[in-house]
Amino acid sequence: PAPPRMALRKTVFVGPVIQCKSLSELDICLHGAIGVDENGKIAWVTRKQPAGLEKEWQEARWIYLGENEFFFPGFIDTHIHASQYPNAGVFGKSTLMDWLDTYTFPLESSFADLSVARRVYSRVVARTLSHGTTTAAYYATTHVPATNLLADICAARGQRALVGRVCMDRLSPPTYRDETPSASLAATKSCIAHIRALDPTSSLITPIITPRFAPSCTAETLSALGALAQQENLPTQTHISENASEIALVRELFPSHASYAAVYDAHGLLTPRSILAHAIHLSAEERALIKARGAKVSHCPASNAALTSGRLRTRQLLDEGIDVGLGTDVSGGYTASVLAEAREAVLCSRHVAMEGDETAKLAVEEGLWLATRGGARVVGLEGRVGGFEVGMEWDAQLVRLGGVGEDGELGDEEEGLVEVFGGESWEDKVAKWVYTGDDRNTVAVWVKGRLVHQRRGFGKVRIVE
Ligand code: GUN
Ligand code: FE
Repeated sequence: PAPPRMALRKTVFVGPVIQCKSLSELDICLHGAIGVDENGKIAWVTRKQPAGLEKEWQEARWIYLGENEFFFPGFIDTHIHASQYPNAGVFGKSTLMDWLDTYTFPLESSFADLSVARRVYSRVVARTLSHGTTTAAYYATTHVPATNLLADICAARGQRALVGRVCMDRLSPPTYRDETPSASLAATKSCIAHIRALDPTSSLITPIITPRFAPSCTAETLSALGALAQQENLPTQTHISENASEIALVRELFPSHASYAAVYDAHGLLTPRSILAHAIHLSAEERALIKARGAKVSHCPASNAALTSGRLRTRQLLDEGIDVGLGTDVSGGYTASVLAEAREAVLCSRHVAMEGDETAKLAVEEGLWLATRGGARVVGLEGRVGGFEVGMEWDAQLVRLGGVGEDGELGDEEEGLVEVFGGESWEDKVAKWVYTGDDRNTVAVWVKGRLVHQRRGFGKVRIVE
């Protein structure tokens, strides 16, 4: 069972506060202050040094930022395979279907051993928190005990998570698959029960129903999972339209359905609570169907490039009114960092632009919007996380950029690679963070008001819990 949540101290966070106001606009408030209550909720926000506060807030803990530091909403990873983390960066020249057989199924099947699961899941949760990921939509494996352990680890470390037991009853090796649709359903229910007992109000951890993708599930399993999602009022996640061979296979396996998206729709897996990863090669009809159903898209640009799956036309989806967030898709994606993924999204959009569609180009602000507000919509947490407004929960990261000394020499590099010479606008500093930053710049991370990561070994961290 998860340790009981310790009572929090009321805290006032003072300093530059940066968040996304709209898809293309940052809100940069240089002298902000935010009061966070004992429940981790934002009680008040001011755009100037706070004055005339009631006694209870004067006596709260106050955290002041230094130069080149700012608060930013925690990142939301809308698609990550926790079990695949040991393979990050290991994919050679494979493409989706042979990558699954060569790299992925052998690794995932090793999670039958709980000691493997404990080591990998502890690391992936610690690492994603260090990257500022305050919410993650995880795929585990088919193993019930290991999936439950992932939920336990998220709860113990305080990461907000959607945890999904992978369902598949065909296509993978016989030793790594559900034997029957009813076994798939029963195992899924068992994980749901475990996660609900762990966090009965879903304050941080929620089960998510996870048919791997249409090729690896029989129609019976897809239908059972769609019905379960409806009965239990739960979100679902799967993959769609990632790769040409995969799409051809779906056509072969489900010949009576008009399209890949139509397969999910027919099985109750295309709803406002459905997260669809990749969605690269959708037809106009499929996009219209996804829009009509209110299903969401997880854009995974690092993975899409690494496995040469294709380039998502993010602008087109956004213009059509489809909600989009970012997914690292570890380990199709080589990075567990949503900041890196935002950079990949921006660069992917520029590759689309170079093919002739200038309007496709995403700005840094748009990458950050996808990483925060967009992601919040995708995982069903809009209004709770992704920004700093009264009533929302304090899921945040403290970002510190590095200065450059007068002599210009390389110093101890304790702040990481983002180099601020002085005189840069805050917009420029944010752009430098997106293009040249990494987890060394994320010095502290909070989820629902609780400090869940603090950078160790370097620098002066001024926060004392
Ligand atoms: N399609 C089915 N399974 C997977 C997976 O594990 N990763 C990716 N990227 N695509 C998939
Ligand atoms: Fe994936």
